[in-house]
Amino acid sequence: MPNRKPAVGGNWKMNLHAADVDALVDGLNEQIGANNTVDTIICPPFVYLQRVAEKLAAASSNIQLGAQDIYYQANGAYTGEISASMLKDIGVSIVLTGHSERRHVLGESDTLINAKTLAALEAGLDVILCIGEKIEQRQAGQTDAINIAQLHYGLAGVTAEQMQNIIIAYEPVWAIGTGMTATPDDAQSAHDAIRKALAIMYSQDIADAVRIQYGGSCKPGNAAELFAQPDIDGGLIGGASLKTEDFAGIVNAAG
Ligand code: PGA
Repeated sequence: MPNRKPAVGGNWKMNLHAADVDALVDGLNEQIGANNTVDTIICPPFVYLQRVAEKLAAASSNIQLGAQDIYYQANGAYTGEISASMLKDIGVSIVLTGHSERRHVLGESDTLINAKTLAALEAGLDVILCIGEKIEQRQAGQTDAINIAQLHYGLAGVTAEQMQNIIIAYEPVWAIGTGMTATPDDAQSAHDAIRKALAIMYSQDIADAVRIQYGGSCKPGNAAELFAQPDIDGGLIGGASLKTEDFAGIVNAAG
């Protein structure tokens, strides 16, 4: 079986303020900052990125800094937006694209998600491309078709070489922030279909090497069972990434 290093991301979304950020990062540095069996990533809100970058550097932490979003243009008249080179400037190494809240709350299209993915890769950032079906799509038996379509749109123009810098996060929309987790079997089945699609789009070697994270109400109590599935290579964590003990527990469950 291919030996993939698990990757666990913490997506803080629009939560926490400076004092909580400091306490959380100090706690994580202490508890998992030296872990090198799991690639651990935290994605604070933009305004705290610099602060977190400094704290990670000061602690010589292995935790990587991620951004929750990016704009695809390099610079110019795009009020409110942040470019890849700005993120790189302050020590960000990886960025989320296609998160379900950006797709379904903020209305991002597959075209925009693809443009962001390509811009991030071109600038030398890694990308966690998030995909996942809504509940009505699952009930209609469309889970794999939706995931594979989002995979094709999101990765359009991404080269085989650039796939080294991509992580896929399978996040069923109905499981995000709801307390409803996909069963390990259901998650494994979706991950298996995603990996098979990657083998067709690229090659078996590339498909075997890509990390596919599960996201959606992942907690310390269910993480180990999910991560034990052969095609689940860690998780993308929302709510449980806001608490030191919970996030550290999930990272430790991954490796
Ligand atoms: P959740 O969010 O863990 O709170 O369900 C996951 C995500 O949105 O990445």
